Amino acid sequence: MRRKVTVVGAGNVGATVAHRLADKQLADIVLIDILEGVPQGKGLDLLQAGPIEGYDVHIQGTNDYRDTANSDLVVMTAGFPRKPGMSRHDLLKANYEVVKTTIEKVVTHSPECILIIVTNPLDAMAQTALRVSAFSRNRVIGMAGVLDTARYRTFIAEALKVSVQNVQGFVLGGHGDTMVPVPRYTTVAGIPVTELLPPQTLEAIIRRTAGGGAEIVNYLKTGSAFYAPSAAVVEMIDAIFHDRRKILPCAVYLEGEYGIDGLFVGVPVKLGARGIEEIIEIKLSPEERAALHKSAEAVKELVQIIGV
Ligand code: APR
Repeated sequence: MRRKVTVVGAGNVGATVAHRLADKQLADIVLIDILEGVPQGKGLDLLQAGPIEGYDVHIQGTNDYRDTANSDLVVMTAGFPRKPGMSRHDLLKANYEVVKTTIEKVVTHSPECILIIVTNPLDAMAQTALRVSAFSRNRVIGMAGVLDTARYRTFIAEALKVSVQNVQGFVLGGHGDTMVPVPRYTTVAGIPVTELLPPQTLEAIIRRTAGGGAEIVNYLKTGSAFYAPSAAVVEMIDAIFHDRRKILPCAVYLEGEYGIDGLFVGVPVKLGARGIEEIIEIKLSPEERAALHKSAEAVKELVQIIGV
């Protein structure tokens, strides 16, 4: 039997996740949104691409949470974009309400699902979903690290004029300007990147990675990135549904790992059938550890505001 994925929010990220899931035939898909007609229209349009693309997965758009029942996995993309004049804190409170109310409905109908959270501010929204769902932490995963790492890998591949497939590494920390790319653990076809690029080039790449989301927002003016974010979500779903036990950087609720307790922070985890199968604790230098803790502090400030 095919798996079932619900995507909450039929906007740019949500609809593109649905599109990529269908192309890969990973699951039947339910697209749900508060807007009437939008998920239905996009769902039907995606369904009608099936005969051309050759997929048989079913795609349904709805406003009714009963249609989401018994989903294996739910992707949360619902939320407001940041509007001009809106502070980060205003956005935090507005999206907190959206995530809280939608997760309540989602988990009533799919008590066994795995949750992947995409709504920003990512780490605080993942923490909201964990509290509201009362799921065990292996089933509540924030998507940030895979995206941030993809940006980092893209810039390194460009600088070296090599295939992006040659570049391996990860970005730690919260999803924001305090994220921590780790050159010491970044390799290009097995060669440490520090042997291939001068420190100033790497520093520029790290800065560009940390501002990667803002760079795209500045171009788009309205809205934010969605092609790479949706690809990142689907890589995580593929790892879970195929029980690949793939090591990917994800936002996860730490309970003492890396000396951080009670906060969602991005670290490498093993993703498999149960969601987070294992949190990988790597050795960090004192500077890397300090940067990770600084990033965790930024997450803490947000979760304290919304009290989750
Ligand atoms: N229930 C369901 N859907 C909702 C709700 C709600 N309570 N509130 C808002 N939505 C829907 C909107 O109607 C919209 O269709 O969420 C969708 C968000 O889509 P976009 O505005 O296109 O935003 P998108 O680019 O998809 O980003 C979604 O992901 O990367 C993050 O920062 C980004 O938080 C944002 C999220």
